[in-house]
Amino acid sequence: MLLEVEGLDKIYTTGKISVTALRDVSVGIDEGEYVAIMGPSGSGKSTFMNILGCLDRPSRGKYILNGEDISIKSDDELADLRNHYIGFIFQSFNLLPKLSALENVALPLVYRGVPGKKRLLRAKQALESVGLSDRENHLPSELSGGQQQRVAIARVLAGDPPLILADEPTGNLDSRSGQEVMTIFRELNDRGITIVLVTHDDEIAGNCKRVVRFRDGLLQNDSRIVEAVEL
Ligand SMILES: Nc1ncnc2c1ncn2[C@@H]1O[C@H](COP(=O)(O)OP(=O)(O)O)[C@@H](O)[C@H]1O
Ligand SMILES: [Mg+2]
Repeated sequence: MLLEVEGLDKIYTTGKISVTALRDVSVGIDEGEYVAIMGPSGSGKSTFMNILGCLDRPSRGKYILNGEDISIKSDDELADLRNHYIGFIFQSFNLLPKLSALENVALPLVYRGVPGKKRLLRAKQALESVGLSDRENHLPSELSGGQQQRVAIARVLAGDPPLILADEPTGNLDSRSGQEVMTIFRELNDRGITIVLVTHDDEIAGNCKRVVRFRDGLLQNDSRIVEAVEL
């Protein structure tokens, strides 16, 4: 099991008001899985992703990532775990506007202490793997939404994480760019990368191998998609 949560609660308290965003959620995800997280707005999907990504901690319950109990880790240890295991993709692409596509992809490698030449090489390879070799020197403003999201994916790939968490990665894209992004995710999953992806869109979820549905903070349904076999 790559990750396992058990009896997870998340309660947000703002002033006198508490909101229970997750209630008693238990689920395990194996290495190599490709999971869609679905459910209405406000059902706890992003809260769940933030906990899986060690960006936030549960109020109650257990989270084991790669055999390690997250609850006993310090914030620094969590940051370290996050750096090595997890790549995040968000609805907004979060690229730095004054850096080229190549520089955006190479930047996180600076913080990992990868030397200059190697950084550029890895960034070039990552851009190539998302089909953007011919856009290395473009600024984000000179790229389409779909291309910007592919740069964001390349930035994650340069770090070589075994787990990708994507929160509505196609939410800002037209359906064709969305499908291009999904084609890349499928290739990454075929290469063995575990992917957990939030979407509202049934067609997008149809690319995944398993669908987990949330409702009012509860895990309502968990089903595997049986792929059509060509005869
Ligand atoms: N930082 C926060 N502080 C307080 N309440 C929050 C916070 N983040 C989310 N919530 C609340 O928790 C619930 C679940 O939110 P969220 O996980 O973002 O849902 P989803 O991603 O499914 O739309 C919502 O009712 C939301 O208002
Ligand atoms: Mg959300």
